[in-house]
Amino acid sequence: MIRVLFVCLGNICRSPMAEAVFQHKVNQAGLGAHFEIDSAGTGGWHVGDKAHHGTLGVLRANNVPYDGRARQFTRHDLDEYDYILAMDKDNLSAILRAGHTDSAEIELFLSFAAEKGLVDVDEVPDPWYTGRFDYTYDLVSKGSDALLDYIRQQHDL
Ligand code: 4NP
Repeated sequence: MIRVLFVCLGNICRSPMAEAVFQHKVNQAGLGAHFEIDSAGTGGWHVGDKAHHGTLGVLRANNVPYDGRARQFTRHDLDEYDYILAMDKDNLSAILRAGHTDSAEIELFLSFAAEKGLVDVDEVPDPWYTGRFDYTYDLVSKGSDALLDYIRQQHDL
């Protein structure tokens, strides 16, 4: 089982969108049985909440299902997941501050898409502040394509 965790600040805008889109692409590739996919926030303000209506709206418009609830990232996640993808550099610092891991690969989510020239940024700007959920979706979709390519290569899938 390949375990993938997406992390943002609140776990209601960016990381649930990435979780849903990546899961959808994995399912479409017929690889669902190989993956366990989740998301979490470094902050705890929205624990138990549904995703932001902007995230749910753009997912619905793209026929991507999502039913998750927000949870907070914990130190334990460092041992549970193989890939931990941070939406921005603040999230990345918070993950690295949580503790040490020998098992997880921890990266900026967009680093794979940026390397391929699919995107010209390496962080996903927070739509909680910008309101730009369509742009967030575009970045998340390209980031998910590049991440899935990378993981498939690593695991011969
Ligand atoms: P997210 O966006 O990290 O993409 O889920 C945010 C959601 C809520 C807050 C900040 C960012 N907040 O401060 O409550």
